[in-house]
Amino acid sequence: MSATRPIRVLMVCLGNICRSPTAEAMLRKKAHEAGLDDRLEVDSAGTADYHVDSPPDRRAVAHGERRGLRMQQLRGRQVSREDFERFDHILAMDEDNLANLLRIRPRGSHAKVALLLSFAPEAGAREVPDPYYGGAEGFERVLDLTAAAADGFIAVVLRN
Ligand code: 4NP
Repeated sequence: MSATRPIRVLMVCLGNICRSPTAEAMLRKKAHEAGLDDRLEVDSAGTADYHVDSPPDRRAVAHGERRGLRMQQLRGRQVSREDFERFDHILAMDEDNLANLLRIRPRGSHAKVALLLSFAPEAGAREVPDPYYGGAEGFERVLDLTAAAADGFIAVVLRN
């Protein structure tokens, strides 16, 4: 039991239907497996508004399901200025997402804004590539990278 409030994490990509919902579900699952559910609140959003209220991409859902992720209940939303007050960590999938987040970040926000893969230095990648216009291997790559980052986040942030 922890007396401190949960750490709040927001995963961010462009559309909020492929990468960031996968990253959200992956971190939630790994925290659960580590017995750390009560230490964490995780959500996701997109920098664009193309898919507001949409469920995740069916390919992302299908690939995620094979690794035990539950994503069907998630709905797309766009990142907002309030997110910078609410979340402790705002984690971008790629450099474009990061630049957009830093552009809209309100003055005085204490949220830590970073690339998700800064928590997976051993992965040898800085960005989680957008799988939207590609094939199955892109969705598997998203799962591999988000799994590595979730492990790193739990080790570095949640266990400290
Ligand atoms: P995501 O993938 O940013 O990982 O959710 C995309 C989803 C939709 C689009 C682009 C990327 N789109 O152009 O609609």
